[in-house]
Amino acid sequence: MSDVRGVGVDLCSIDRIEKAIKREHFKERVFTQQEIVYFTRNGRVVAESAAAMFAAKEAVSKALGTGFLTGIMPEHVEVVHDDRGAPGIVLHGPAEERLRELGGSQVHISLSHEANSAVAFAVVS
Ligand SMILES: CC(C)(COP(=O)(O)OP(=O)(O)OC[C@H]1O[C@@H](n2cnc3c(N)ncnc32)[C@H](O)[C@@H]1OP(=O)(O)O)[C@@H](O)C(=O)NCCC(=O)NCCS
Repeated sequence: MSDVRGVGVDLCSIDRIEKAIKREHFKERVFTQQEIVYFTRNGRVVAESAAAMFAAKEAVSKALGTGFLTGIMPEHVEVVHDDRGAPGIVLHGPAEERLRELGGSQVHISLSHEANSAVAFAVVS
């Protein structure tokens, strides 16, 4: 692995995301269509998956050193999953530009949820 350029962590309340996601505006602003497909199973939102994905976005924004206050928005940080279910991150637009600015080339992510909390840890390298 190349040098570490940044790390970020985020802890998110599952209840909070479950409530927020009922608002279509929040859902569409924060999550991509692919992400919505992932956390919607059998027609219902799996809130712990949505909360972990939300935490992933915030953790990555911290690893990039920007948060979401400087033009990088949650939609620019997309959570994807491979065939085995492992999460990965695809950056878009200004988030991808920030990665390059840091001299990085990839973002590593790990997610977990238990009881009412979801947590994400991100590394930029
Ligand atoms: C960094 C950010 C993501 C904070 O997230 P948060 O969930 O509100 O707060 P957390 O408790 O998880 O994290 C706070 C810590 O992040 C760290 N932090 C703050 N700015 C940071 C930055 N630019 N880069 C990395 N870490 C940062 C600080 O250590 C902070 O602790 P402090 O307040 O005691 O100094 C914030 O920049 C942000 O964008 N807030 C807006 C939230 C938002 O718009 N969410 C999506 C839209 S729905």
